[in-house]
Amino acid sequence: MKSLLAAALVCAALPALAEGSDEGKKVYMTKSCMACHGMKGAKPVMTYPALAGQNEKYLLQQLKDIKAGKRLGTVDETTGHPFVQGMVDVMHLVSDDDLKNVSKYLAEQSPGAPKPLDPAPDAETLAAGEKAYNSLGCKSCHGAEGSKPTSKNYPFVAGLNRDYLIRAMTEMRDKVRVNGQSKLMFGTIKKASDDDIQVIATWLSQIDRSAK
Ligand code: HEC
Ligand code: HEC
Repeated sequence: MKSLLAAALVCAALPALAEGSDEGKKVYMTKSCMACHGMKGAKPVMTYPALAGQNEKYLLQQLKDIKAGKRLGTVDETTGHPFVQGMVDVMHLVSDDDLKNVSKYLAEQSPGAPKPLDPAPDAETLAAGEKAYNSLGCKSCHGAEGSKPTSKNYPFVAGLNRDYLIRAMTEMRDKVRVNGQSKLMFGTIKKASDDDIQVIATWLSQIDRSAK
């Protein structure tokens, strides 16, 4: 009797689980997210962040912060507004439930292949990036090759757009981006020079999480 009841409960729960990500897909497709972050969050335009396969908790936290206007950042010289502004402008379209569902949907998508750099980085730059990442201690939170975060609250950093990575690291080092758990980054990132940030971003941006 007990197991029958348990089976009935599982059956009732399963469609509810699938519903979260189906709803999330609908949000992603209809609330303009795809225009900037690309098909399934894996092919962002310009210097925007990829979202496919990112940690669900991290995604939700950033979305809440962006909606609340807590995530600040540098100004995009081509538009005269912060990079995050385009996103802030669409956040009135989404409810708190939409944010939960879209985070779930995005976390379930497969990461895309890295965007090739032009010119292609040389082996020396890539090696310098890996060395700086390891010696500064980034691995203790973001894991080997930026691909194994040590907490579900920490983001994957491999395979993101190079310019986005440079911007994110510089903004946290210079304490422009201070929302969420960014404090956890401060102690480490303040030791990174502009050159370290450049080579780390180049190296991380070319790591292929789709192949892992
Ligand atoms: C007009 C373009 C645009 C639209 C539309 C847009 N975004 Fe964004 N999004 C951005 C940019 C640019 C950033 C990075 C901002 C920065 O550099 O600080 C970003 C950041 C994010 C982040 C944080 C990523 C990270 O790694 O920290 C999430 C999550 C996100 N967007 C999800 C969404 C969702 C979900 C939607 C639809 C409801 C959406 N975005 C709509 C441009 C956009
Ligand atoms: C103590 C843990 C910790 C260490 C060490 C650490 N980070 Fe982070 N990192 C985080 C957390 C937590 C976040 C998310 C911050 C937030 O909530 O906005 C983050 C965010 C980032 C982001 C932005 C991701 C995004 O999608 O916007 C990048 C890039 C990054 N870290 C790279 C690094 C690099 C490179 C190093 C080493 C120089 C490093 N981190 C060291 C915990 C850490």
